[in-house]
Amino acid sequence: MIERIRVIGIGMGDPLQVTGEAARALATVDVFLVADKGEAASDLVAARQAVCDALIPAEHAYRVLEVPDPRRGPDGERDDTAYDRGVRDWHAARVDAYADVIGGLDDGERTVGFLVWGDPAFYDSTIRVVDALVERWGARGLTVEHDVIAGISAPQLLAARHRIPLNRIGAPIHITTGRRLVDEYDPTLGDVVVMLDGHLACAELADAFPEVELYWGAYLGTPDELLVRGPLAQVLDEVRRVRAEARERHGWVMDTYLLRPSPGTLGDTGPSGFPDTEPLTDGVVTVRPLEAGDWQVVRDEHNNEESLRWDFFGRPHTDDEARTSAARARREWRLGRAARFVMVDAATGLGAGVISVRRLGPPGLGLVGYGVVPEFRGRGFTTRALRLVSRWAFDVAGLDRLELGHKAENVASGKAAARAGFTAEGLLRERLPNPDGSRSDEVYYALTRGTFSPETRD
Ligand SMILES: C[S@@+](CC[C@H](N)C(=O)[O-])C[C@H]1O[C@@H](n2cnc3c(N)ncnc32)[C@H](O)[C@@H]1O
Repeated sequence: MIERIRVIGIGMGDPLQVTGEAARALATVDVFLVADKGEAASDLVAARQAVCDALIPAEHAYRVLEVPDPRRGPDGERDDTAYDRGVRDWHAARVDAYADVIGGLDDGERTVGFLVWGDPAFYDSTIRVVDALVERWGARGLTVEHDVIAGISAPQLLAARHRIPLNRIGAPIHITTGRRLVDEYDPTLGDVVVMLDGHLACAELADAFPEVELYWGAYLGTPDELLVRGPLAQVLDEVRRVRAEARERHGWVMDTYLLRPSPGTLGDTGPSGFPDTEPLTDGVVTVRPLEAGDWQVVRDEHNNEESLRWDFFGRPHTDDEARTSAARARREWRLGRAARFVMVDAATGLGAGVISVRRLGPPGLGLVGYGVVPEFRGRGFTTRALRLVSRWAFDVAGLDRLELGHKAENVASGKAAARAGFTAEGLLRERLPNPDGSRSDEVYYALTRGTFSPETRD
């Protein structure tokens, strides 16, 4: 009767890379369950057997049971929803298959082991399958212990073989799949490790990012190990060729790679980020960069009758939406997409509203947006905040022209802008959507560096 499940990371196939802890765990297992994935992966089955032969003492008896892996549809052709559903169905089918096999074990077979390629924490479903099994038995009153033993993963071995750290000093590492790479990729992500890439997705990035350094590795930890390194556009053909030859030889290819932006695009602010900014104040209103903790101001400025009247959709924010919006502000600032500030009542420190400058297409242009919570309306806070932020935009952020607009009927908004020095430049017909599906005209204002007069500055 089963008592314990051990999920054991066995590295990339070389017994020398199995940790001491994993080796010790291997010698406690009565039955190893391994997924039988058919002919194509027979090299992997052999590598796994070699690990057991090398590390389990001869006097320890164990069995290896192959559990036929349920069939999985073609991932590449599915959209994300179909892909997620497909993977979930496949996991459920695996749980059923393992439960059946474990149910048929002999009485003395109490410790079951799962051998996991690399580390169980990286793109491997074994922990989820074991959780589901343990939960299923728990529901029937059977307690089964389980533990997870770490192994050396493909990204670690890739870095070791290329003799590099995976991250630059204090910078993040983004680990993703080939399926997601092209949608997600941006050099500001920093170092990006790609796994599960059947089609060498980085090829699609070579024109846009030719200088990005590619560190590629296949069959890592095996005698057939392959390594290629160099600027993406320069080494791509070589990787394609080496990969195709290897696939021909083995019938399958397992590769992992790192994309490292060239120095200068080090995944930090980049030239377009807004500069770091201290709070700006005129003694009555203070504006400072919006932070995650300001989410209630984001919510309260929006969730009131007056704001919702002018909103495009007329729908209040949930607390989660306000939290997410506030939490994104720092990243938007860093990327130079939007400088979002919170307005604070200088006397009490209470949050009074929000004001933002979003970069528009042509260089030097910013689109201003603002909103004040009901308790602070009618006190001139918007005008004061607009002056502070305009001065910052021209003097610190290097913008040349600020624009803003409001629905033609929203007269109060326009007055605040005019008092801050903005000039109405025209009426844009049926530009802004209303919750009922109609569209309102927009009155459009601008303030330029040249028309930002000393009087409005102070
Ligand atoms: C299902 S994931 C398993 C990852 C594994 N748990 C780990 O820790 O590396 C399979 C992916 O791991 C990477 N991989 C596994 N073995 C590899 C090897 N020997 N060389 C290079 N990449 C490998 C490939 O990106 C492959 O698509």
